[in-house]
Amino acid sequence: MEGTGNQEAAMKAISVEGLIKNYSSVRAVDRIDFDVGAGEIFGMLGPNGAGKTTTIECIEGLRNPDGGTIRVLGLDPQREGYELRERIGVQLQATALYERIRVREALKLFASFYRARSPWADDWEKLIEPLGLADKMSSYYHTLSGGQKQRLHIALALVHDPEILFLDELTTGLDPQARRAMWQLIKEIRDRGKTVFLTTHYMEEAEQLCDRVAILDHGRILALDSPADLIASLGGENRILFTLEDPYDVDCFQEIPHVSRVERIDSQVALYSSQSSKVLLELIKRADVSGWSLHDLHVQRATLEDVFLTLTGRALRE
Ligand SMILES: Nc1ncnc2c1ncn2[C@@H]1O[C@H](COP(=O)(O)OP(=O)(O)OP(=O)(O)O)[C@@H](O)[C@H]1O
Ligand SMILES: [Mg+2]
Repeated sequence: MEGTGNQEAAMKAISVEGLIKNYSSVRAVDRIDFDVGAGEIFGMLGPNGAGKTTTIECIEGLRNPDGGTIRVLGLDPQREGYELRERIGVQLQATALYERIRVREALKLFASFYRARSPWADDWEKLIEPLGLADKMSSYYHTLSGGQKQRLHIALALVHDPEILFLDELTTGLDPQARRAMWQLIKEIRDRGKTVFLTTHYMEEAEQLCDRVAILDHGRILALDSPADLIASLGGENRILFTLEDPYDVDCFQEIPHVSRVERIDSQVALYSSQSSKVLLELIKRADVSGWSLHDLHVQRATLEDVFLTLTGRALRE
């Protein structure tokens, strides 16, 4: 295949250079570049319409880009899609399955789409058990709950033991407990040496699950790094929050050493600082002297939400 840079290519599961995708006059993806390393969980985080689905579908070979180069496992998804599909797993959307198919039949049907025999062909329970569907083998698809269907879609994307798993909005619609269980499962898949590419608009999901995150907005990548490094790029500031009904002058908080910024919304006050424990001590001292009662005092770590806010000036809300 590629004559040069084989070693580097071997470390990369996906490489994208200058990707452009237009829908008539709308530029959905605007010249983005990134690589996904083999064995990492890579996330694309961004609000509705940011271009996440368009990007993932170009990489999967389901959409044709208008510009740029994509390589997935060294293959061109446009020209070598047939070969590529044997090696990647794509999570299906909920509507795509026939209602009166049983879980076991669906697994067999999907396995039959691939040339290689499924490593689970003799023991489907092994694949389905970690997804919490072991007792659903004989159930009809239409009798599964929304979360169970979603887990079955993951199982179907895994039947041929793909090297890369693509998940578009993995946990949308799952309850918090099911979401956490899904994160655990995805980490286990990564720990088996697989690469995972996912999109999400849940900050917490990106932060808890992804090794690296690209923040996408209006078809462009605004930042790309590990969640910890993205947050650290803000200067590692925490937020000290409290409510104070007593009258006070905002300057008295600004004066506290190591406070970089004070925000006030009605009676709620937020102090920003990279040395929150020192600020906390001083704040309590001053409250004692002034006779203020601070309610609901707590420290909030900076999150990816703050990163997004800093980069775009807007909040990314669910
Ligand atoms: N088939 C299409 N035809 C025309 N425009 C489209 C099409 N698909 C997407 N778009 C537009 O491209 C932009 C990016 O859409 P995309 O679906 O990639 O966003 P997304 O980040 O996946 O959003 P969401 O979080 O809502 O899933 C949007 O402005 C959308 O309206
Ligand atoms: Mg989408």
